[in-house]
Amino acid sequence: MGILGDKLPGPLAAGTPLSALAPMQDVTTLPFMQVVDQLGSPDYFFTEYFRVHVHSTLEKYILDSITENPSGRPVFAQLIGENLEYMERTVKELIKYPVAGIDLNMGCPAPKVYKNNVGGGLLRDVNKVDSLLGHLRDYIPGLFTVKMRVGFEDWANYDALLALINKHQVDLLSMHGRTVKEMYRSEVHYDLIKHAVESVNCPVFANGNITSAKKAEWTLNYTGAAGVMIGRSAIRNPWIFRQVREHFLGQELFQPKLSDVFGYIQTLYDRVACPGDSETRRTARMKKFVNFVGLGVEPEGKFLKQMRRTVTKADFFEVCERFCLGENADKLFAPEPYENLIARPSCEKPLKACSL
Ligand SMILES: Cc1cc2nc3c(=O)[nH]c(=O)nc-3n(C[C@H](O)[C@H](O)[C@H](O)COP(=O)(O)O)c2cc1C
Repeated sequence: MGILGDKLPGPLAAGTPLSALAPMQDVTTLPFMQVVDQLGSPDYFFTEYFRVHVHSTLEKYILDSITENPSGRPVFAQLIGENLEYMERTVKELIKYPVAGIDLNMGCPAPKVYKNNVGGGLLRDVNKVDSLLGHLRDYIPGLFTVKMRVGFEDWANYDALLALINKHQVDLLSMHGRTVKEMYRSEVHYDLIKHAVESVNCPVFANGNITSAKKAEWTLNYTGAAGVMIGRSAIRNPWIFRQVREHFLGQELFQPKLSDVFGYIQTLYDRVACPGDSETRRTARMKKFVNFVGLGVEPEGKFLKQMRRTVTKADFFEVCERFCLGENADKLFAPEPYENLIARPSCEKPLKACSL
C-alpha cells in the first residue's frame, strides 16, 4: 500500500466536476463516511486533521477512515502542524497506508489552534508557509494538497500565498472563501476563490456554503473552480453529492422526502452516535448532526427547538417521528436550508472526541 499515484483521480461519473466531502473534525469519521457513501459518494474524501507535534502518533479512529473506507474513493489525509521534523515523521508514517495524498490544513480558525501558529494561524507568516510547503513537497512522494482560507484578518497575504502554491507545485488547492477571523458564518468571498483559480496552476476546489446542486453549479460557473468541497450541507443533506452528479449529467435529481430524512437520522443513531456511550451522550451527539438536518425539515424552527430539548433516546425519536413520519412522511425535504434558521454556532465546533 502507500500513496496511490501522482495524478488526481477522476470523478465517479465521467464529465462531471469533482466533488469532495470537506474534512470536519469529529464528524467525518469512518461511520459518517460510510453513511454518505451509501447515499451517494463524493469523488474524494478528506480525513479530519491528524495533529502533528512532538509526541503525536496517528489517531486510530482517523486512520480507520482511510483503511476501512468502503467507498473505494480516494481519501486524502489531512495534517495540522508546523514543525518540519514532526511533519516529516508523520508523512513517513502515513504513506504506509492507502492515502490518496497528504493535505495540509491552513484554515482552522479555533483560537487555541491559530495561537500556536498552525492551521489558520500560518496564513500570517508567508515565510513560514514557504518553508513548510517546500519541505512537505520534498517529503511527499505523491499528491500534496492544501486546504486554506483567503487570509487571517484580511487578504493582504493572499497573492503571496497563492504564489507559494505554484512555487511548491501543490497538486490541489481547496479554498474556503472566508478569512480565519470570519469563522463560519460571514458571506463567502467567491470573488477571491475566482482569483485563486486564475492565479494557481493546480485545480481548485471551491468551499463555503455550497448548499445544493444549483449552488454548486453557480459556484463553479462563477469561480471557474474544478470542483466543489462541501461540509455542513452534506450533514444537512447527505444526498447532495448524488444530486450534484445527477445535475451535471442532466438527470432528474433525487428528491428526499421527510421519511428518507428519518431513515438517515436512524442510520446516524445506529452508526455515528458512538455505540457503547450512555443514552444521554448518544442523544447529545445526535443533536450536533440533526441541528443541521433540521434546517430542511420544518421552516419555522419548531422541529429544531423541540429536538434540541430532548434528553432521552425515546424523546428524541418521538420528536423526529412526529415531524418526519405520519402525515409528513411524503413531504419533500427542502432542497435549500430554510432561511432564518441556523444550526447553533456550537455545532460548528467539534464535540469532544467520542470513544469510537
Ligand atoms: C464541525 C466542523 C469541523 C471542521 N473540521 C475541519 C478539519 O478538521 N479540517 C479542515 O480543514 N476544516 C474543518 N472544518 C471546515 C470545513 O472543512 C469547511 O471548510 C467549512 O465548514 C466551510 O464549508 P461548508 O460551508 O461547506 O461547511 C470544519 C468545519 C466544521 C463545521
